[in-house]
Amino acid sequence: MRAFVAFDLPGELRQELAAVSRRLQQRLGGAAWRWVPPENMHLTLQFLGEVAAAQVDGIAAAMRAAADRAPIPVRLDGLGAFPNSRRPRVLWAGLAAPPELAQLHAQLETALGELGFPPERSRFTPHLTLARGRGLAAPGAVELAAADAPQPLGGSLSEIVLFESRLNRRGAVYNPLVRVELRSQN
Ligand code: 2AM
Repeated sequence: MRAFVAFDLPGELRQELAAVSRRLQQRLGGAAWRWVPPENMHLTLQFLGEVAAAQVDGIAAAMRAAADRAPIPVRLDGLGAFPNSRRPRVLWAGLAAPPELAQLHAQLETALGELGFPPERSRFTPHLTLARGRGLAAPGAVELAAADAPQPLGGSLSEIVLFESRLNRRGAVYNPLVRVELRSQN
């Protein structure tokens, strides 16, 4: 199966992102972008690719070790695009977070690396993907989108999830396999 590890989002953040996404769809349209349905929105920690059923317990242990800490306060922080706003392939909402988020990511990445899942080559940039470009975005689309940036709403990241990702004709379906709550043991 294809799988990835991500933070689930608190309800208020998901609702704000859903509202922003609706407005952006009206502003930018559906031809140039594939919009992520709000129920699929998440903060990716690591994409694993192909995972065997026998590896799930080890992945769950890596998640539990990284989750031995208090929930992490975050705040929505504007809009951006990968790789850049001239040729946007991913339109995302940014996330301002304390150093604990990068620390958790690094700890998880090391533990998953020991299980044979290589780290991403790019630097960890916490982001929430709103849409993926079909290569047709008009010049200035991302600047236009910035007018509908999310409110700087705060929330707490408190649950790491191992999702199985199934791709079908209508898009991706994410099935949670393991859920781990952030909780400090001391
Ligand atoms: P994203 O966080 O930028 O949206 C599930 O596919 C998640 O894993 C997506 O949210 C996606 O990126 C992330 N991801 C990272 N690398 C990927 C890859 N090579 N293929 C598919 N998804 C990947």
